[in-house]
Amino acid sequence: MKSLLWKPLKAMRSRWIMGMAMAMVYGLSRGFGIPFVIKLVFPKVFRLDAMDLGLGSLLFYCSLPAFVAAIQGVSYVLSIYSMQVCAVAVMSELRRLFFEKLQHLPLTYFNKNPSGTLIARGLQDTAVVQAVFQQVTLDALRHPTTLLGAFAYLGYLCVQKADVFFLLLFLGVLPVCVFSIRFIGRRLRLKAQAVQEELMHISERLSQNLSAVREIRAFQLERYELEKFAKSTSLLGKAQLKVISYTISIGPIVEALAALGIGAALAYTYFHSIAFDEFSSLCLALYLCYAPLKELGQLHAKIQEGRVSLERIAKLIHEPTIESNPKDALPLAVCQGALRFEGVDFSYASNLPVLKCFSAVLQAGKSYALVGPSGAGKSTFAQLIPRFYEVDGGSIFLDELPITRLNLEDLRRQIAFVPQDPVLFNDTIYNNIRMGNLKASQEQIEAAARDAYAHGFIMEQEHGYATQVGDRGSCLSGGQRQRIALARAFVRNAPILILDEATSSLDAHSDQLIQKAIQKLRGHKTVLIISHRLNTVHCVDEILVFEGGRLLAQGPHAELLSTCPLYASLYKTHGDGS
Ligand SMILES: Nc1ncnc2c1ncn2[C@@H]1O[C@H](COP(=O)(O)OP(=O)(O)OP(=O)(O)O)[C@@H](O)[C@H]1O
Ligand SMILES: [Mg+2]
Repeated sequence: MKSLLWKPLKAMRSRWIMGMAMAMVYGLSRGFGIPFVIKLVFPKVFRLDAMDLGLGSLLFYCSLPAFVAAIQGVSYVLSIYSMQVCAVAVMSELRRLFFEKLQHLPLTYFNKNPSGTLIARGLQDTAVVQAVFQQVTLDALRHPTTLLGAFAYLGYLCVQKADVFFLLLFLGVLPVCVFSIRFIGRRLRLKAQAVQEELMHISERLSQNLSAVREIRAFQLERYELEKFAKSTSLLGKAQLKVISYTISIGPIVEALAALGIGAALAYTYFHSIAFDEFSSLCLALYLCYAPLKELGQLHAKIQEGRVSLERIAKLIHEPTIESNPKDALPLAVCQGALRFEGVDFSYASNLPVLKCFSAVLQAGKSYALVGPSGAGKSTFAQLIPRFYEVDGGSIFLDELPITRLNLEDLRRQIAFVPQDPVLFNDTIYNNIRMGNLKASQEQIEAAARDAYAHGFIMEQEHGYATQVGDRGSCLSGGQRQRIALARAFVRNAPILILDEATSSLDAHSDQLIQKAIQKLRGHKTVLIISHRLNTVHCVDEILVFEGGRLLAQGPHAELLSTCPLYASLYKTHGDGS
């Protein structure tokens, strides 16, 4: 986990060392410099040593505090700035790693971790880590060095006076402070964990609510949603108050102990006739010891909060991903498009098999329709080809090469995929189509839109191709969204085209026109069409009939009508237009 922070820090070693060095100067000038100057100046200005000062000496002594303050000021600014530069760089790298990881996590991960949770992790957790990191880089250096400086001064006094009482006094209180700080810190970590959990729940609730605005209005779930949200915010409030109460209790504990120490010092002074200048510089040194302790206590509490968030980010960053570049990867520039499934077993959850010893051969350049009852495994089958999921057993071959031996980038370049629920990005129509192939020219984009029968309606929009489609394409109709998703797949011009219910929202006429456009690809591309509308897809080369995760039959339409009763019945229900 720590390596996440140290690795980027290594690259900024000089900044970091500079920041630390300046923090040392700051701490020593504060912890040692101030009491030392007081011890030096007080006897002169209070005339305790019965010596008159000349004007020059007076100026010298009176300007000493300003000199120490100047050293403190310059070192303070330089140390803070240097460490902040490091903090910003570390956090940018952490966010980049987080986002990069999200692009490569297996899809099963997103089933278990809803988007709201991940958004919370990406925004809140990184913000907490950044805030803590910034504070730590400042205070974790300033306070210990101040403590060290003050401690050094106490040591210097003891050596001078051969009297270790004050030092012992201070040392006696120190472990009590440290012990209470550590105890509170441990409790606080648990409480901070609870706060982060609640924040994630709220984020999840918000994200779900926003993605189902229509359903909530339609089913009048506003109050139900509000009650759940209010419950989450109240739990969050309670958890936050616990964190605050632990954090603020550290200061008074240390202060009370410091007051006890100073009380003892006063009593000792009374009995041992300690000089005023010695006593005042000593009290100041003691104070300068306790102040950083108090701050360090609060810092310790903050670190616990940051640790919780960093642990969660680290957990995500260290999640295993599928091997995208196998060591012995087979080269593949452009494939023919022949696919073979050999005894493939697959399940989303370990105990529920979805595909069972599934074998099928799909020849290059031919078109296939995947049909079967809902839940039979058609979409799952299609998603295994670009390795959205890893098979549990058996193998999938592309042009007789096992797809696990191909670089993931090479494999996915061969496939244009329209999923069952395509998503449009909140961008223009033009850019949404272009995402299928970032190198496509304007002519290619328009040609793809024509093939998908989208050009007509696009030109009817006020801004044509520059029209913004809204969040997830919410400004367009379901059929328009599907046609843009189709155009996006067409512009990719890949050897394998997979369409999962890609025309389900279109009217029968548009569907037929698109099927004709797809037929033109015959001989050039391997096309897989998943559809319940059998009347528009029965003219493909072959049909694969799925049932309960198995391949029930495979063959041309006419043959299956007579040999496969399930297909015949599906065709009767969904195919003959009745
Ligand atoms: N992400 C998922 N996590 C867990 N189980 C899933 C997931 N997606 C699908 N399933 C399950 O896998 C089985 C097959 O689903 P699949 O989506 O492949 O069916 P389908 O044949 O495409 O159905 P439909 O025609 O309704 O789209 C179903 O039982 C479904 O509940
Ligand atoms: Mg499906």
